[in-house]
Amino acid sequence: MRVLFVTGNQNKVAEAYGILSPLGFYVEQLFIGGKAPNLVEPQAEEIEEIAKYKLEQAVSLTMGTEFENEAVLVEDSGLFIDSLSGFPGPYSSFVKETIGLSGILSLMSGETDRGAEFRAVAAVHFKGKIMTCTGVCRGFVSENISGDSGFGYDPIFIPEEANGRTCAQLSPLEKSSISHRGFALKGVSELLNPPSK
Ligand code: IMP
Repeated sequence: MRVLFVTGNQNKVAEAYGILSPLGFYVEQLFIGGKAPNLVEPQAEEIEEIAKYKLEQAVSLTMGTEFENEAVLVEDSGLFIDSLSGFPGPYSSFVKETIGLSGILSLMSGETDRGAEFRAVAAVHFKGKIMTCTGVCRGFVSENISGDSGFGYDPIFIPEEANGRTCAQLSPLEKSSISHRGFALKGVSELLNPPSK
């Protein structure tokens, strides 16, 4: 089954492909008129709300096109830092673009509680139904920027199961086996294709 991922982020597409292909789904980035549609991200307190709003836009873009009967996927993620009361959370994109990774490390300078989690909400529309699933990856904010694979906050986020390595020091397979996105997409795959009893 084909899943059309509406995102401008190629890294997310590559990860979704790696996660969903072994489960029997073929992930493709959606292009309309040769372009990845630009979805508006509302200002909201919850990433669930942002994902649902993005899905509404994505579905209306596919209505009346050759894609309208296919599974349409969107996803929203954020880094929630315990000692910053969940900041940057839903503002992760803006914060990454403005103060960047070094800005986050400065905000946490001298902080001993480095606990944080990455959350992803995957939302799919298929045959008139909306299915959503949240994935969480607990971990820590590192003291330094390390590693060069992955994207976004990967060089400063150390998942609990990663033996002290940042996500940017993991292989794509290792990252997806423990990541927020891995859990969210596996959850959604089960909703799309429930295991037979
Ligand atoms: P969004 O889901 O595209 O809004 O992502 C919010 C912010 O989190 C952006 O700065 C992304 O680059 C970053 N981000 C999303 N997923 C990941 C990830 O898996 N690792 C690291 N950063 C991520």
